[in-house]
Amino acid sequence: MTSSPTDLRCGHKVNPLGVSPDRVRFSWQGAGQRAYQVRVARPASAVVWDSGRVESAQSADVPYGGRPLTRGGRYAWQVRAWDEADTASGWSDPASFEVELDQVTGWRAAWIGLQRMPDRFTDPGQPHRSDRVIRALSPAPYLRRSFRIDMPVAWARLYVTALGLYEARLNGCRVGDAVLAPGWTDYARRVLYQTYDVTTLLRRGDNVIGAVLGDGWYSGFIGFDVKRAGAQYGTAPELLAQLVIGLDDGTRQWVVTDGDWEGRFAAIRHADLLMGECHDLRLEPDGWDAPGSDPAGWRAVWCRERDARRLVADPGPAVRVTQELAPRSIAHFETGKQIVDFGQNMTGWLRLRADGPAGTRIRIRHAEVLAADGSLYTENLRTARQADEFVTPGGGVTFEPRFTVHGFRYAEISGYPGDLDPADVVARVVHSDIPVTGSFECSQDWLNQLFRNIDWGQRGNFISIPTDCPQRDERVGWLGDAQIFARTACYNRDVAAFFGKWLDDVADAQFESGAFPDIAPRMHLDFAGAPAWGDAGVIIPWTLHKMYADTGVLERHYSSMTAWMDYLERDNPDCLRSRNLGNSYNDWLSPHADQTPPELLATAYWAYDAALMAEIAEAIGRRDDAANYRGLRAKIRSAFTDAFVSADGQVASGTQTAYALGLHMQLIPEHLREPAVGHLVDAIAGAGWRLTTGFVGVGYLLPVLSSNGQTEVAYRLLEQDAMPSWRYMVDHGATTIWERWDAWTEERGFQAPVMNSFNHYALGSVGEWLYRFVLGIEPEPGTAGFGRLALRPHPGGHLRWARGSYRSQRGLIATEWRLDDGTFWLRAEIPPGASASVHVPSRDAREVRDFSGQQPAAITGFPGAAGVSEAVFEVGPGIHQFAGPAWTGEERPAG
Ligand code: BGC
Repeated sequence: MTSSPTDLRCGHKVNPLGVSPDRVRFSWQGAGQRAYQVRVARPASAVVWDSGRVESAQSADVPYGGRPLTRGGRYAWQVRAWDEADTASGWSDPASFEVELDQVTGWRAAWIGLQRMPDRFTDPGQPHRSDRVIRALSPAPYLRRSFRIDMPVAWARLYVTALGLYEARLNGCRVGDAVLAPGWTDYARRVLYQTYDVTTLLRRGDNVIGAVLGDGWYSGFIGFDVKRAGAQYGTAPELLAQLVIGLDDGTRQWVVTDGDWEGRFAAIRHADLLMGECHDLRLEPDGWDAPGSDPAGWRAVWCRERDARRLVADPGPAVRVTQELAPRSIAHFETGKQIVDFGQNMTGWLRLRADGPAGTRIRIRHAEVLAADGSLYTENLRTARQADEFVTPGGGVTFEPRFTVHGFRYAEISGYPGDLDPADVVARVVHSDIPVTGSFECSQDWLNQLFRNIDWGQRGNFISIPTDCPQRDERVGWLGDAQIFARTACYNRDVAAFFGKWLDDVADAQFESGAFPDIAPRMHLDFAGAPAWGDAGVIIPWTLHKMYADTGVLERHYSSMTAWMDYLERDNPDCLRSRNLGNSYNDWLSPHADQTPPELLATAYWAYDAALMAEIAEAIGRRDDAANYRGLRAKIRSAFTDAFVSADGQVASGTQTAYALGLHMQLIPEHLREPAVGHLVDAIAGAGWRLTTGFVGVGYLLPVLSSNGQTEVAYRLLEQDAMPSWRYMVDHGATTIWERWDAWTEERGFQAPVMNSFNHYALGSVGEWLYRFVLGIEPEPGTAGFGRLALRPHPGGHLRWARGSYRSQRGLIATEWRLDDGTFWLRAEIPPGASASVHVPSRDAREVRDFSGQQPAAITGFPGAAGVSEAVFEVGPGIHQFAGPAWTGEERPAG
């Protein structure tokens, strides 16, 4: 018997307590599989769906195929598989899922809050004025209700959400470990709720349920719109909670938010995502969320019935504290201020211990970088204050904020009683808790640092949605940044559930015209359809499908995508995308942004959309649509060629971005491809082997060079240490990816503070090239989900070795290569159920052998490199090693 399947997931999650029926799709890992069988049952009752034996190697994205699932119901499921030799495995250990509650009948709770606030921060004015900010901030409501349970508890679930942020409490304990829940959506339309198993927190007798609310994205400051700095959705937070208790006798008891709850304000004087938090710990009522507490000071809540907004089980990963960082150093200043350096730019907050007389006021400010005099540099935060304040209750106390988040490496602490002991402070790293799937290491330390910076950029910016930056008064979900980084993000971490959730935000934000927004959630902004931004609505679902073989996401968003395609076609009947370019950010932040014609960039993206739509339609069985999109793409391609490609293969404007787009999106006629690549290399050489792209062009530049035989040029750009370059950032102390190539330069110091974040992931899209080309980890073209691989490492530059991996849905894929004493050595690891063609570059490919002495199945040329060829081996699961004659530097093109 082969081993049973493991790593069972439903809706990309392990045993989800809330999943909408259209997301009930199963995946597992196991040995190579020729057939599978899934069965789903209600606990302790009959099987409700049995797939029967299905002849298929598919082990991901298997949809539930039984009768409609019961809303709120709990299900168990198992899978078994037959291997290539037709030997059956045993059934897997059971996994479970619980179905999203019915919108109408599933909820008995009402929205409650403490008081309605007057309209805050919505009037045009000067949001940067500190008196205005202070007036706008308000204390956090504490809400609670006592109840009795008269029988032993068999099980219990808490379904909870807020307009704003909540921290739920039961009998003195925090419920769960998520922070910043329920996450950011367009609250006017769709609110996520979380489900917690609270069985062990309840007891027979007296119980208390409670919650503290923060303003969060709902009623706090967010974004950059000076006309509406905050209160995007409402003016005061509200809670909706429903505790369902299964009693021993089979009956149920419900405790829901209603007019019987009571509330008060207490220690949290204000809590705001951008501005920070203030706690007066003298005001914290002892044991307020446990039975027997003091009733003084509590008053009735206000309450209103549920309305039309959709309540949706959270499909994404929770935001959590994922790591703690100790101080690297603490600088003491005469003024009594102390600046802590944590050695890493990150997103989160501090946990601090202090001992001092009651009323001691401790203030913490946060910044990403220091000014030349060693003080915090905060100008680039614009109006975001990122400051927390704590007033001590007397005696030793530990405190940390709960409803804010700061982008920082340094924290300045003032008012602290005495010298700060490094053991009394840690930085708590906060972001969407997404499993790591990628690794990369090589012989160059600076490149290893760049890789870490790319992942830290992702961690700091993936907080419920993919934000542009986590520090200044912006922190919004720009689509352009997300699409250019999406492939890198997928390799780094398992973002299937995270992006799956955010694509619903994108769909919610789509305009009636069909235009995708530039930002999602879009708040009150009407930014629509900018090229390379709106196109994310097609590119990201396609990327998820490519990486996770997820057709569910394609089906869920197919109508949004076709509406977008119709919108583009309606406006641009001549197949050149020149109308309705919205804000047209073009090749954003390139040193020469204005040089790539906006219509060129826009048309290239449109053609790309059409090509991807053909693949998408094909993947979900819409053959006719696929043919139509292929036709559309051909028309756009020829319009592009006519308008922008000259007879000698030059692309209009001659920018690196124009070539990168033309080549990546396959818009240059076949016979002009080689000359076009030559022109691109000339353009790079003409710029002194430096980049001239912004973030739209840069994502494709290195992949295009490698795919067209110019890997050495790609390495030359990668290893460039003069500005603009990745290495310049690393050499100047970056621990994340900067927003701008010149965020800080030796000559000029900081860029203008109006737009200068030190934690923007977009330029980190080079991570994709490290995985796909340096390591060579790629699905075979035309396939999705890593069942069939084309492993093709591209050694080059000054690298002597590189190794890394990607944990795909089928298991670990790893490569490692080394240039050693005239030998090129490669190790490749293929997961169960997958097969690969492994391409080994060599001076003499006929001489390459695998370690069992096997000869290559084929020999091909290594694109672009004279004197280098490739030995191709066909391999199955397991570890394979190869070695052959290496080439010398002279044999490779100098670039
Ligand atoms: C953001 C970018 C975003 C851009 C739109 C900026 O303020 O930080 O990352 O894509 O605006 O051009």
